Amino acid sequence: MRVRDLSISYGAEPVLEGVDIGVGEGQFVSLVGPSGSGKSSLLRAVIGLQKPLDGSIELDVPSTDIGILFQDDALLPWKTARENVALGLTFRGIKKDEALAQADFWLARLGLAGFENRFPRRLSGGQRKRVALAQVLALKPKLILMDEPFASLDAIVRARVIQDVVALVEREHISVLLVTHDLEEALWLSDTIYLLSQGPHAHITREYNVPIPRPRDLIRARKHPAFAPLYEKLWRDLSREVGAAPRLVASDADAA
Ligand SMILES: Nc1ncnc2c1ncn2[C@@H]1O[C@H](COP(=O)(O)OP(=O)(O)OP(=O)(O)O)[C@@H](O)[C@H]1O
Ligand SMILES: [Mg+2]
Repeated sequence: MRVRDLSISYGAEPVLEGVDIGVGEGQFVSLVGPSGSGKSSLLRAVIGLQKPLDGSIELDVPSTDIGILFQDDALLPWKTARENVALGLTFRGIKKDEALAQADFWLARLGLAGFENRFPRRLSGGQRKRVALAQVLALKPKLILMDEPFASLDAIVRARVIQDVVALVEREHISVLLVTHDLEEALWLSDTIYLLSQGPHAHITREYNVPIPRPRDLIRARKHPAFAPLYEKLWRDLSREVGAAPRLVASDADAA
């Protein structure tokens, strides 16, 4: 996927200007930037929900091969976990029995064996997030777009879900564009991280290469010599964009 010279505005209000990003095959790319800079707008433009003012978006996969995971999961409350996952498959013409079998497979793969017949209200936030992820993965996307999908999870569940995503994406060779405000998450997951400047007229100010080898393991990734310096650099650069004085969080102490 490649976005070239993308500009977006809402009426007279400019948001993005001249944005260039690329997601190569099997690559994990994150987009970080200040709140309101236009990250979600960019994702919406990629899936055609937002008409750009200028620029181009090249998708090298058909739109049916694109999976989308937004911050709020869109599970249907009156359907069980397996029915929710099976729904997208039946929409694609797969017979109900087969769709349910595939749903069970993906739920099990995400550690939800035994939870197939639960309704969303009887699942925890992290479990619902996994169901939503199973929904996306069951459709075997080649490209996944995610908008802060892990933001509402507590630290432990979040780490587990992220580890699942890393493993699956690596195994299935899926390309991902992740929008996040969490720098640690971006470092854990990405090959490349783009930093978007403060809007209006937000553009990419920096691109970081994450040299941590794959397959990735979260604990080992944190201990990789490149992790802490990159985290610090990202923090400084993002702080500068937000206009705040650079300040480090306790993350480095956690990792020790
Ligand atoms: N539908 C809309 N109509 C008008 N303005 C909008 C609309 N959606 C977003 N905006 C404005 O566009 C700018 C970018 O919004 P966007 O949601 O893309 O930011 P973001 O980077 O995703 O922020 P956050 O990190 O808070 O999710 C903001 O100033 C926002 O107020
Ligand atoms: Mg957003």
